[in-house]
Amino acid sequence: MTDQVKELVSKCLQARDLAYCPYSRFPVGAAILTIDGAIITGCNVENASYGLTVCAERTAIQRAVVEGHREFTAIAVTCDIKDRFVGPCGACRQVLMEFGSDWIVYLTKPDGSYKETSLSELLPLAFTPAHLAKN
Ligand code: THU
Repeated sequence: MTDQVKELVSKCLQARDLAYCPYSRFPVGAAILTIDGAIITGCNVENASYGLTVCAERTAIQRAVVEGHREFTAIAVTCDIKDRFVGPCGACRQVLMEFGSDWIVYLTKPDGSYKETSLSELLPLAFTPAHLAKN
C-alpha cells in the first residue's frame, strides 16, 4: 500500500466515525483524492424526512467542488461490514461519473483492508456529460 493510499483509507475510516445516521445506524465514510493530492472526506448525513439523506460519497463530492476541486483520481469508501467489500450505491456511482470515469475505487473494510476496483467497472455503459454534447 503506498502512503497516499494508506492515508486515503485511513481518512475514509475517520469520516465514517462522523456519520450522522440515527435512523439506519449504518455509518459510511468516503475520502476522495484530488489530482493535486488533496483529500476531501464525507460521511452520510441522514434526515428525519428519510428521503433527504445524503450518502457519504455525495457529501464528499459536494464538499470537494465547493473547495474548488473538479479533478479526482480515487475514492475510498467504507462502512461497518466486516466480512465483505461493499460498493457505493448506484446514485453515488452516477454522481462520481460526472467527474470522469477514470477513478480508482478502494472498497474498504473496517480493518483497513481494501479491494481496488474502478468506476468504469462499477458503472459500465454509463451515461456521462459527453452524451449531452451537441453533434
Ligand atoms: N449510504 C451511503 O452513505 N453510501 C452508499 O453508497 C450507500 C448507502 C448510506 C445512506 C444511509 O444513510 C445509509 O447508508 C443506509 O442506507
